[in-house]
Amino acid sequence: MKRIGVLTSGGDGPGLNPCIRAATRMALGYGLEVMGIERGYAGLIGGEMIPLDARSVGGVIGRGGTFLGTARASEFKTPQGQREALRNLNRHGIEGLVVIGGNGSLSGACALHRLGFPVVGVPATIDNDVVGTDIAIGVDTALNTILDAIDKIKDTASSHQRAFLIETMGRDSGYLALMGGMAGGAEMVLIPEVETPLEEVAQGLLDAYVRGKAHCIVVVAEGYKPGTQAVAAYLQERQEELGFEVRVTVLGHIQRGGAPSAFDRILATRLGAAAVRELQQGNHGHLVGLVGNQIVLTPLEDVLTRRKDLDLGLYELGKILEK
Ligand code: F6P
Repeated sequence: MKRIGVLTSGGDGPGLNPCIRAATRMALGYGLEVMGIERGYAGLIGGEMIPLDARSVGGVIGRGGTFLGTARASEFKTPQGQREALRNLNRHGIEGLVVIGGNGSLSGACALHRLGFPVVGVPATIDNDVVGTDIAIGVDTALNTILDAIDKIKDTASSHQRAFLIETMGRDSGYLALMGGMAGGAEMVLIPEVETPLEEVAQGLLDAYVRGKAHCIVVVAEGYKPGTQAVAAYLQERQEELGFEVRVTVLGHIQRGGAPSAFDRILATRLGAAAVRELQQGNHGHLVGLVGNQIVLTPLEDVLTRRKDLDLGLYELGKILEK
């Protein structure tokens, strides 16, 4: 193998740059050339590539986002898109690929693997819903952003004796809401994995009020049904009887930005370097993940067919501590 490619795809998150940096410098250390593919699979199909050397990745370790750019490329799901991608990889003499991203990106990586192209995946998504790793790149920084927001909202909530619904990202996963709520000492957490009727949410507010709390913080995962706005409407209609006025804060994309935390920089560095090592050693078609602080390989096929379950023991613990 003489030349590899690196791409970031799907939703961005903190830690992508240190991962590209580690993959690049590890590859250079093996004497390989590196091409950075811009805008994920969209750039792969369009042939948008830049050569990377040690200096190209200088100073990126602390920067949020991805300097290669990213995209959600639906055209890559088609056989024509995959054909164009393979053609561009061959045209540029790229013999192996590191794909950094979440489940959508990894399913693209698996498609290339099935077509016989050497590829290794690296889990990077704030949703933390990738099988084969305890934690994905970006999760720790996103959690710290959520925590900072909860702490600040708590200040104003206490001053005004209000209840706040704070919506976190996570797609179908309640991980960010659960862990953010636990770290932030929330009174309640609403996640897609646990059905919580609106009456129960209202009762939670009332209980907090009666217990003498100055605020009630409810962290709501974006995947929770019937959704944050429906909860807010239900509670606002009853706020007289519940004691607290209700406000909503949707954290949105601030959770995806910002300088990566120390944990994310180290995780990204370890996984980026491991991905290149595995490619170089001929171990293709895998995800490199962190399980129990060890780098572990999981076949991409398994990553995509299994579902990552949330530890509901932590949800139960949160319910005990929120009193
Ligand atoms: O997968 C990361 C994520 O931020 C999800 O939590 C969220 O549902 C989605 O991406 C938002 O996507 P977009 O940035 O395309 O609106």
